[in-house]
Amino acid sequence: MTSPLGRLRLGVNIDHVATVRNARGGDTPDPLRAAKIAEAAGADGITAHLREDRRHISDADIEGLMDVLEVPLNFEMAATDEMQAIALRHKPHAVCIVPEKREERTTEGGLEVAREENRLAHFIAPLRDAGCRVSIFIAADKRQIEAAHRIGAQVIELHSGAYCDAHHEGRFEDRDRELDAMREMSAFAHGLGLEVHVGHGLTYETVAPVAAFPEVMELNIGHFLIGEAIFLGLDPAIREMRRLMDEARA
Ligand code: PXP
Repeated sequence: MTSPLGRLRLGVNIDHVATVRNARGGDTPDPLRAAKIAEAAGADGITAHLREDRRHISDADIEGLMDVLEVPLNFEMAATDEMQAIALRHKPHAVCIVPEKREERTTEGGLEVAREENRLAHFIAPLRDAGCRVSIFIAADKRQIEAAHRIGAQVIELHSGAYCDAHHEGRFEDRDRELDAMREMSAFAHGLGLEVHVGHGLTYETVAPVAAFPEVMELNIGHFLIGEAIFLGLDPAIREMRRLMDEARA
């Protein structure tokens, strides 16, 4: 069954091209080159997370991406004044608000929207006014989804990390429970009028069940694809993910 919501979009996250570049402090590998290859391979969008500590993507990368991309940029950012000012300067197609802790290796959990509803409502209003689609990265939790809806976000991205970890660690009951929660919450969020995206930790092994949720409009995938690119090249790595997504959706 093809989803009534249409083709599933693939956003390719290029953060870890910058991670490798920064390991040596030079100019290569160039995240902008990766973004253009991803575009040519069928990415529907490029995602980049400008972290507070600039551990991978840099301010210049964001500027470069805004110049060279033909597909939309999804700018991931923490809810800080500094990041808001950068987003308002560039006005990317989408901003995805994520929690950020300096000591974490990656974005470990979803945003606590319910606890910070007032502050976040004020935080995202100017971004929406500037024409950015505002997405909130959250766990598959009804309270958080309702709060994201109340603050005026147009999109939620469900954190698939717990599902993927459980799969790769062989905890299949946990995996299936996480998957059920994401399925149910995708439908719930869609019913509220929110656009639903999913991301974090997705691989060739884990992508199909999520791609099959009819309400999901976009997957954002980075680390695994950049890792596969070492062995296959970036273009075939992305094309294979695209194929698996389309197969699951069909
Ligand atoms: N979506 C969001 C909101 C993220 O923060 C990340 C990780 O930066 C991703 C998707 C991509 O996750 P991964 O790199 O594990 O595929």
